Amino acid sequence: MKIIIIGATTGIGRSLAQLYASKGYEIAITGRRIALLEEIKELFPNTKIHVRAMDVTDYEVSRKTMQDLAIEMGGFDIVIINAGVGFPKATFEQEIETININVRGFMALANWTYQYFQQNGGGQLVGVSSLAALTGSAYAPEYHASKAFMTNYMSGLRMRSAKYKHQIAVTDIRPGFVDTPMTKQNKGMFWVSTSEKAALQIAEAVSSKKKVAYITKRYYLVAILLKIMPEWLLVKVF
Ligand SMILES: NC(=O)c1ccc[n+]([C@@H]2O[C@H](COP(=O)([O-])OP(=O)(O)OC[C@H]3O[C@@H](n4cnc5c(N)ncnc54)[C@H](OP(=O)(O)O)[C@@H]3O)[C@@H](O)[C@H]2O)c1
Repeated sequence: MKIIIIGATTGIGRSLAQLYASKGYEIAITGRRIALLEEIKELFPNTKIHVRAMDVTDYEVSRKTMQDLAIEMGGFDIVIINAGVGFPKATFEQEIETININVRGFMALANWTYQYFQQNGGGQLVGVSSLAALTGSAYAPEYHASKAFMTNYMSGLRMRSAKYKHQIAVTDIRPGFVDTPMTKQNKGMFWVSTSEKAALQIAEAVSSKKKVAYITKRYYLVAILLKIMPEWLLVKVF
């Protein structure tokens, strides 16, 4: 099994990379901070780890990098698109950055990956969206909207695969709260998981080819609530 992880320098992506590397899977890891990726490679000298600097907002380059990795690795089976940002009380510039990374950057790679798998006998596309996909938010409307895009896009690709029998599994990973650099400044978090525990549950959901997985699993209960809560109540809670 060969796996590409987009956004593996810190947090959930890094823990996933270390988990898969510790199991001996051949992996490719990407992110903007290449020194952090080299650190992971050094931790696992006996595992094949391909390292690539990648800024997902530069989507022509990121799609070309995927092409190069496909050649270097002799193909791959799973692509996990985890790169993402979220800012507390974002400025306009930060809102644009969120859309460029979480929406445009994600879509460019998901689109490339789908076509690659379509031409190469199938595979599995995994996107790390969020529980935030299920509702708006007074604090971060752009973040929640960006995650809703990811979730709907993945649902569409899953439907396309079913309709045209493309043999492509699409797994939407929806974390609740995970302790990572992204959430360091967050207040009022609950059921916070370590990134290692999140990675274990994500790997489990990926290997069983789940369509949707809440991380950690008990956030499923929150998802049910979010789906039925009216906006006036959401305003009080979030
Ligand atoms: N932590 C949570 O509670 C939580 C909850 C729900 C969903 N999520 C989602 O989980 C994913 C991982 O987040 P995290 O919490 O693990 O945060 P994190 O530690 O800040 O990790 C974010 C990752 O995304 C990469 N990234 C950001 N901008 C990028 C860009 N322009 N090009 C390429 N890579 C980029 C970062 O690498 P570089 O900065 O080195 O490029 C880093 O590897 C995100 O999509 C996030 O929205 C997190």
